[in-house]
Amino acid sequence: MAAVVLAGAAGVWALARYTALGRATTWQRQARPGDLSAAHAFLADNCAACHTPVKGVTADRCIACHADSPVLHREPTAFHATVGTCRECHREHQGVAVRPTAMDHAALTRIGLDKVASGDKQAADRLRRWLADGNAGPHPGITRPEAALDCATCHGTKDRHRGLFGKDCAQCHRTDKWTVPEFRHPSAQSTECAQCHQAPPSHSMMHFQMVSAKVAGQPHAGVRQCFLCHQTTAWNDIKGVGWYKHH
Ligand code: HEC
Ligand code: HEC
Ligand code: HEC
Ligand code: HEC
Ligand code: HEC
Ligand code: HEC
Ligand code: HEC
Repeated sequence: MAAVVLAGAAGVWALARYTALGRATTWQRQARPGDLSAAHAFLADNCAACHTPVKGVTADRCIACHADSPVLHREPTAFHATVGTCRECHREHQGVAVRPTAMDHAALTRIGLDKVASGDKQAADRLRRWLADGNAGPHPGITRPEAALDCATCHGTKDRHRGLFGKDCAQCHRTDKWTVPEFRHPSAQSTECAQCHQAPPSHSMMHFQMVSAKVAGQPHAGVRQCFLCHQTTAWNDIKGVGWYKHH
């Protein structure tokens, strides 16, 4: 019983503090919310262009001006067409020197979870349980909320591995840069090249026998014997021949 009273009292106290604080900060920030970004500086006297009374910043305001933006139609930003909220990745009032864009992958998971929950409650619960089960992702460079995303839907066109490593990019990659610092490339003496590299389409056509094999001086090589013709420096650095230039 005592605990309940205490909790109740604490609740009232916290609430009182919250409203007082809320009023003070709103008043202060309202007076000096910080300058808008350069692109939006022309809206300095038009707060209502982005802010809806009571609701705050709402997506419909932004979309009113940006519905025609090309980011709606091409990857990796086509999610804009349905995302429904903008402020997660587009901060404002940080001054003219700061671009108002900072990609936040984890925010996409939070937003996506709400959408999943409104359609399939069980799927949302499964995802929630997985997210709650610790913050460790498949490797130290990535968090669970980030790793929950289907990377290939947005970054499929960036797949340097031509599908050979599958679609679960999060298995090896992080979300801030594509390089993998701990990766050491196998030596040029390796004969396993084809385990990690898919031959380009040109190698499965006549071109391979007619041009590639001749250029490399390896008329009997099979396509999967990359190591007979290639170095590990770059694909047009041909073994025993040097840099091959396309005409
Ligand atoms: C170009 C759109 C835009 C305009 C115009 C704009 N704001 Fe904002 N404002 C934002 C965004 C976006 C946020 C959320 C920032 C964040 O989360 O970093 C924000 C946040 C705020 C906040 C903090 C409270 C909150 O909702 O997070 C205040 C206060 C605020 N703006 C006041 C103003 C005032 C006053 C003006 C007019 C002088 C103004 N804004 C004009 C986009 C705008
Ligand atoms: C009254 C129209 C208007 C409103 C409202 C508006 N914008 Fe803009 N926005 C512009 C214009 C104009 C530009 C600069 C030209 C361009 O890139 O289209 C711009 C630029 C941008 C840029 C690129 C900025 C850069 O420096 O790279 C982003 C991102 C952006 N707006 C997002 C938003 C978001 C998010 C909101 C809502 C919080 C919003 N805009 C509200 C008109 C508007
Ligand atoms: C999950 C993060 C995220 C959310 C949410 C988001 N954006 Fe973006 N947006 C980005 C990123 C990242 C870019 C930059 C893409 C690039 O570098 O080409 C971008 C680019 C833009 C641009 C083009 C800026 C330019 O330089 O041409 C506009 C306009 C824009 N967003 C508006 C919006 C609006 C409106 C919303 C809400 C409906 C929104 N964004 C929601 C991440 C987000
Ligand atoms: C809904 C679309 C979407 C999904 C899903 C997504 N990303 Fe992104 N990602 C973006 C956007 C937009 C950017 C910013 C624009 C850019 O840099 O290409 C970005 C940027 C990146 C970058 C930085 C690129 C650079 O050179 O700065 C990396 C790395 C990245 N994402 C990896 C991932 C990985 C790994 C996953 C899966 C765990 C993932 N992304 C899931 C949309 C997405
Ligand atoms: C089995 C692990 C693995 C998987 C899965 C994987 N990659 Fe990679 N990827 C790597 C390694 C290792 C590198 C070399 C990184 C380096 O040199 O720093 C690399 C390099 C890259 C690079 C070039 C980085 C640079 O700038 O040099 C891109 C882009 C890339 N991967 C995209 C993807 C995409 C998109 C997916 C998913 C469709 C994916 N990868 C799946 C391991 C993987
Ligand atoms: C264990 C996997 C693995 C093996 C085995 C391997 N590679 Fe790689 N290699 C990678 C990854 C990952 C990258 C970076 C992503 C990319 O560019 O495809 C890469 C990149 C390259 C590049 C691109 C360099 C550049 O920046 O353009 C060349 C050329 C290359 N490898 C040649 C070879 C050759 C030749 C062999 C065999 C002697 C070989 N690789 C064996 C994984 C491997
Ligand atoms: C018989 C020699 C030979 C073998 C075997 C070979 N290549 Fe090549 N490859 C070449 C030559 C020569 C070129 C440059 C001229 C050309 O495009 O034909 C080339 C070009 C390439 C290019 C750049 C051209 C493009 O279309 O992107 C890539 C990537 C490549 N090879 C990957 C591979 C991989 C991966 C393997 C093994 C699975 C392999 N090659 C096996 C000789 C060979």
